[in-house]
Amino acid sequence: MANVIVVGSQFGDEGKAKITDLLAKNADVVVRYQGGCNAGHTVTLGDKTYKFHLIPSGILYPGTICVLSPGMVIDPKALITEIEHILSQGLDDSGLRVSAHAHVTMPYHLMLDEAEEESRGEAKIGTTKRGIGPTYADKCARSGIRLEDLLDAKVLQAKLDWLLPRKNIILERLYNLPPLNAQAILEEYAAYGRALSKYVVDTAAIIFKAVQEKKNILFEGAQGTLLDLDHGTYPYVTSSSPSAGGACVGAGVGPTMIDRVIGVAKAYSTRVGEGPFPTEQTGEIGEQLRQTGTAWAEVGTTTGRPRRCGWFDCVLGRYAVRVNGLDCLAITKLDVLDQFDQIKVCVAYKDPVTGQIYNELPSIGSAFQHLEPIYEDLPGWRQSTRKCRQAKELPNLANSYLEFLSRELDVPIAVVSVGPERGDTIVIEDPIHGPKRVLVTGPAKVSQ
Ligand code: IMP
Repeated sequence: MANVIVVGSQFGDEGKAKITDLLAKNADVVVRYQGGCNAGHTVTLGDKTYKFHLIPSGILYPGTICVLSPGMVIDPKALITEIEHILSQGLDDSGLRVSAHAHVTMPYHLMLDEAEEESRGEAKIGTTKRGIGPTYADKCARSGIRLEDLLDAKVLQAKLDWLLPRKNIILERLYNLPPLNAQAILEEYAAYGRALSKYVVDTAAIIFKAVQEKKNILFEGAQGTLLDLDHGTYPYVTSSSPSAGGACVGAGVGPTMIDRVIGVAKAYSTRVGEGPFPTEQTGEIGEQLRQTGTAWAEVGTTTGRPRRCGWFDCVLGRYAVRVNGLDCLAITKLDVLDQFDQIKVCVAYKDPVTGQIYNELPSIGSAFQHLEPIYEDLPGWRQSTRKCRQAKELPNLANSYLEFLSRELDVPIAVVSVGPERGDTIVIEDPIHGPKRVLVTGPAKVSQ
């Protein structure tokens, strides 16, 4: 029995779905604990590519219970479309469970996400425009609508009677947008409630029962540590808690029930949307990393936006190891580096004005924007790694690269992905039962 959290260790899009797919084959329950349809998880099986936004990729394994937790925000229309899509692919929805407490993305959330972004001008966040921020804002303001509210038209009507006039004032007066019609929303969302009612349950109770029965539970993070509302590059973050602690809060499971935390990081870095990205490469190297024109190009699964690309950043990596308490790491897309003569890795930052060196993220977010990366140059291996299935089959220089990252981040690398297919994977150590990070205790080193 093992209950495992899989988290993104960078800015999201680390290839988590590939790793959760690998681990999900032994999982009885797969749980999404935060976010909504801003996420995009891609899994390639033979000639089929599955793209998930809300439903955990564990749905590919028949019999697996797939949970959408209270910590999620759910656009019911998007969920119904996704359920129809998986059914049309011959997949089974009988394992799907949706929390009655998950918050609902309403039409005004979508409109406000778009309008707020536009009004920010140059300071925009670059959101996915899926209504994520406004839905979580209403949840925190205790003005949210939960899935359970869609199941009872009277409850929904009472909530809308109070909410909609207020939302319409904002839409009309602040953003010059047309007001929404309460009756139309009531009818549409009550219909969504009827369509989804068979999936809606107390998911935290299901998870607890699975813990009692010593089942294997996999908690699947969306987005990544640097997009975490509390621990990311605020305000250029999402509005939920993708980091490991968020799994307990979002799913409603006690921290004592978690056995392992596995981080996922690309062998380089990408970011979608605005915000600081010290190792970003805007020229030819960025283009090479983006693999434009290939089926695996670095393009957002949800929005189709090209991802910003750059070298691996060990400062951010160390931070992710720390705030998530990572036990081990899975490195994805190593094969993308096959083409380079030289590979740069950022090991620290330098303040160009004061000359101060930072081995850790500076505590003041705005300072981060101006820091310059200090790189180590590592030799590339210039050889395809696509067919490698064991670490010993990798070119020596590729193994040296992985060892360098592992040393710099002080965390074992358990899994390496060398291609999009399920089989394009090297398991160095069992990520769940193999060696894990040993935290060195004693007087802390002062690093900045
Ligand atoms: P939101 O989550 O749509 O509010 O977007 C906030 C920020 O998070 C933006 O920079 C998005 O590009 C980014 N973001 C949200 N979801 C994802 C994801 O699944 N992968 C990568 N970036 C994401």
